[in-house]
Amino acid sequence: MNAVLTPPDRPHDALNLEEALEASLARFPAAELTRSVRTLIRRYREGFDPSVPALSSQAAVAAYAGYRMPATYSAVRAALRQVALLAPGFAPQTQVDVGGGTGSAVWAASAVWPSLREVTVLEQSPSAIDFGRRLAGRAPAPAVREARWRQAVVDRDVPAPAADLVTMSYVLGELPPAVQADVVRSLASAVAGDAGMLVIVEPGTPAGYARIAAARRLLAELGLHLVAPCPHDGECPIRPDQDWCHFAVRLNRTALHRRVKDGTLSFEDEKFSYVAVSARPWPRAGSRILRHPLKRKGLVTLRLCTAEDGLTDRVVSKRQGETYRAARDAAWGDAWL
Ligand SMILES: C[S@@+](CC[C@H](N)C(=O)[O-])C[C@H]1O[C@@H](n2cnc3c(N)ncnc32)[C@H](O)[C@@H]1O
Repeated sequence: MNAVLTPPDRPHDALNLEEALEASLARFPAAELTRSVRTLIRRYREGFDPSVPALSSQAAVAAYAGYRMPATYSAVRAALRQVALLAPGFAPQTQVDVGGGTGSAVWAASAVWPSLREVTVLEQSPSAIDFGRRLAGRAPAPAVREARWRQAVVDRDVPAPAADLVTMSYVLGELPPAVQADVVRSLASAVAGDAGMLVIVEPGTPAGYARIAAARRLLAELGLHLVAPCPHDGECPIRPDQDWCHFAVRLNRTALHRRVKDGTLSFEDEKFSYVAVSARPWPRAGSRILRHPLKRKGLVTLRLCTAEDGLTDRVVSKRQGETYRAARDAAWGDAWL
């Protein structure tokens, strides 16, 4: 039944990061942070130029941490929770996070897998490493506090030590298109042993999804097993000119967020696309919910990606009892029967 695949809510994890961020950002003058956030927003909106590093100064890194890190952390955590639900026996001890920035994916992974003991972050920007390391010092998880931060520029060959869990979040789109496939191949070879897991997360935009779809195809060709979000390893049934596979996570806006976007909503929805593959097969979701379920009186309509019928709308009625109650509780991004 789907209810067992609904991730539990753990708001205290987010709170911990939020408090650590507040404390780490306190040393930056508010006006400087606000100015840097505006510059960062403009850069990402105008299209990212990989030849100009975004996180090259302390102010830019602090702006990223305050403005983007809560969102990338929440997106990665949501993706990893879906993986954990499908692979309950997966208890990674080691993690390598590539292009780790200020550490979102290591905070997220430790919130999902307390089994983690040894964490390595590879990052090109010394300022991001400096900020990330200080921030990690305030983390509740020992693996995050004791993480190793290594300066490395990823270029075709990822100088990653093998790890049980390899993550790369919001980075693929910052790499030159010509090296992206080689980087994905190299990440696949960093997955340790026959139980390792690789998770790649990108923004939930058509371009982010296109990169995830290309990575997914390549990883399947390399013989890795799809774990999430897809219910199958066949061709993705979504036509790129019509739609894109993405999910969303809602988070409260930070004080910094509210300062730069004054007068707007107190929450935001971070959209993301992801793919998780493993060296060994795990049971897959029967299908995946691709939209907010549509709820009308006595009926719930689920837009599903399925193994047998591709994309399909399934209507669940009140007469279906337990299945109906599960459909009413189900959310966009959850696994379904
Ligand atoms: C958008 S940030 C994402 C940071 C973090 N993974 C997250 O999810 O919040 C992209 C990060 O990738 C790093 N990066 C981009 N290109 C890189 C490269 N070739 N080698 C290493 N790091 C790189 C940037 O310095 C930046 O920290």
